[in-house]
Amino acid sequence: MQESPKTLKQCLDLGAQHLERTQVENPYVVMELLAARLYGCGRMDLHRHADLVPQQRVLDALRRGLRRVAAGEPIQYVLGQWDFRQLTLKVDKRALIPRPETEQLVEIVLNSPVLAHCAKPLVVDVGTGSGCIILSLAKELDNGVFVGIDLSPEALSLAMENAALTGLEDKVHFARGEGCGEFDPGSVDVLVSNPPYIPSRSVDGLERKILEHEPRIALDGGADGLDIFRALIFDAVMVVKPGGGVFFEIGDEQGGAVAGLLEEFGFTDVEIKRDYAGRERFAMATQGDSG
Ligand SMILES: C[S@@+](CC[C@H](N)C(=O)[O-])C[C@H]1O[C@@H](n2cnc3c(N)ncnc32)[C@H](O)[C@@H]1O
Repeated sequence: MQESPKTLKQCLDLGAQHLERTQVENPYVVMELLAARLYGCGRMDLHRHADLVPQQRVLDALRRGLRRVAAGEPIQYVLGQWDFRQLTLKVDKRALIPRPETEQLVEIVLNSPVLAHCAKPLVVDVGTGSGCIILSLAKELDNGVFVGIDLSPEALSLAMENAALTGLEDKVHFARGEGCGEFDPGSVDVLVSNPPYIPSRSVDGLERKILEHEPRIALDGGADGLDIFRALIFDAVMVVKPGGGVFFEIGDEQGGAVAGLLEEFGFTDVEIKRDYAGRERFAMATQGDSG
């Protein structure tokens, strides 16, 4: 007997069961994300298609996506786009997938008193990757000069595509560079960075999904994970204006060490902030008057 064609809901159930067997997390959500991308709608609107039989091209694309996720590829790369705050950004292997805690880093910068004192702040994001931080700041702040720096030309090319996709290309500049030492002394109002901070020996122990798909240059922070903080804080002493601020995303065991470095280099109001899960994930400080 010929099998009757399956509705979208049945296809999603079957796909989710397959993903569950391959130990993919949140398998039903993953199937919904794939379907929503193919139907060009939100996950919450899929119910409109749930009892219909998908077209063959949708079924084929669902199968292709399912295979990639089952083989260990992050869903974000399979979808090719991901939401970050108010923006939908292109994501691919050229740069790290933007994480939810980094949205909180942007929130911390936006709420900082440092910005209240600047009419047109110079905001620099070191290790810009997909551009998620600097593009969000440019989107959500009325005024400013916004610069994203990255060592990786691949990441920069993605960030520039994202600037064009989000209509922010006239507001944000991108440049290849190592750290932020090339800015004029005392010129930067806000230095923000989510740098690579995983200790080298721990990188190989990361989930396969991360290790095999996301760029190592985005992860490896040297022997103790603090290499880039040392370099950034050293440069920040020179380039951040007195009264300007530095804002870092950090590993959850690095709060004490990063706070110590900031204090050692004369920064004031050093604060370690927790993410919504209660882990110490952000460091912020102000450049002292004599900076
Ligand atoms: C953890 S990723 C963060 C990407 C993006 N800002 C985000 O939050 O999703 C770190 C980024 O820093 C870049 N990077 C690594 N070392 C760097 C350095 N010394 N100077 C500038 N960028 C660096 C990597 O290429 C990578 O894009």
